[in-house]
Amino acid sequence: MQSITVKAPGRINLIGEHTDYNNGFVLPAAIQKAATVTIEKRVDRIVTLIALDLNESISILLEEIKPSEIHWANYIIGVIAQFQKKHNFPIGFSITLKSDIPIGAGLSSSAAIECAVAYALNELFAFGIDKMELALMAQKAEQEYAGVKCGIMDQFASLFGKKDHVVLLDCKTMEYQYFPLLLKDYTIVLFDTQIKHALASSEYNTRRLECEAGVAMIQTKYANVVSLRAANLEMLNECVSADLYPIIYNRCKYVIQEIERTLAATQNLVANELVAFGEKMFATHEGLSKLYEVSCPELDVLVDIVKNKEGVIGARMMGGGFGGCTINIVKATEVNRVIANTSEAYKQQTGKDLVNYIVSIEDGAYIIN
Ligand code: GLA
Repeated sequence: MQSITVKAPGRINLIGEHTDYNNGFVLPAAIQKAATVTIEKRVDRIVTLIALDLNESISILLEEIKPSEIHWANYIIGVIAQFQKKHNFPIGFSITLKSDIPIGAGLSSSAAIECAVAYALNELFAFGIDKMELALMAQKAEQEYAGVKCGIMDQFASLFGKKDHVVLLDCKTMEYQYFPLLLKDYTIVLFDTQIKHALASSEYNTRRLECEAGVAMIQTKYANVVSLRAANLEMLNECVSADLYPIIYNRCKYVIQEIERTLAATQNLVANELVAFGEKMFATHEGLSKLYEVSCPELDVLVDIVKNKEGVIGARMMGGGFGGCTINIVKATEVNRVIANTSEAYKQQTGKDLVNYIVSIEDGAYIIN
């Protein structure tokens, strides 16, 4: 095999936000929007990266793989570097990339690139690395080459997604379980604020540190609490003073509640209690906005617009935050009306145009040819 083409999707997350790096649960699914890479073996030791959408390309020697000044290239170089920690590439290769995942919309466009490249390199060079390891390598690429200390959710979803299913991942044990997404008369609609917050990655890393600070405080009494997954609100109240450390307290409170909420919401889904599921999405948004403080005015406006409105049973900001999309569960017969009304209200309140995507849930990464 001299060349391979792999498609790896973006993701949505129904519930379980900012829980993955706290050893909690997430409930993502892969979507129809995807990154596609073609990798072709070369006869020399050069690695060429071509971004078709940007009409840009760069070349590097295999021996000189290191972080680049070119932002998009780092997602790919980061993955190549992970392979080089374990294997030698016998020859160079050319990687051609295109993607229809909107960038900065919170749909994991970068994870999709990383996973497509990881999956394709593994197949093309027959390294025999299993899919979970590929997800971890793709995560490392993001951490080391994009500087975001991300959790595993996005890369996991891009590789392990399953058509018409959500997947509950236990980020502590990495055990996972698929559930058919029985939305019956409902549709998932994303509203894209098109806000890309410049501080998103630094704030993300700060949240991680704040959670770790909370864990350290809880550990002074409960030594075996190694992450917020093992903590509960009683421990938090006992060990972290809300008066002295309000920020740390609020961050931990949100995460502890969200981990519990995700499990309860999954049960709602299984029992077909969609209204109860949707209520939990609203509660998640409240926590992300007020306690975790990763929302932004536009996301809050979007959730407010649909709250208590006919046709929408659940809505919240999705992903890392500070911009990107809200995820909404909308009655199928009301989709057009909800989109029209929300777009109009959003324009009125923010002066901005609203972009929407109707989601279909698809398989994770696969070989096209
Ligand atoms: C980003 C990260 C994920 C996860 C979410 C928030 O998408 O890449 O690992 O932490 O934010 O849930």
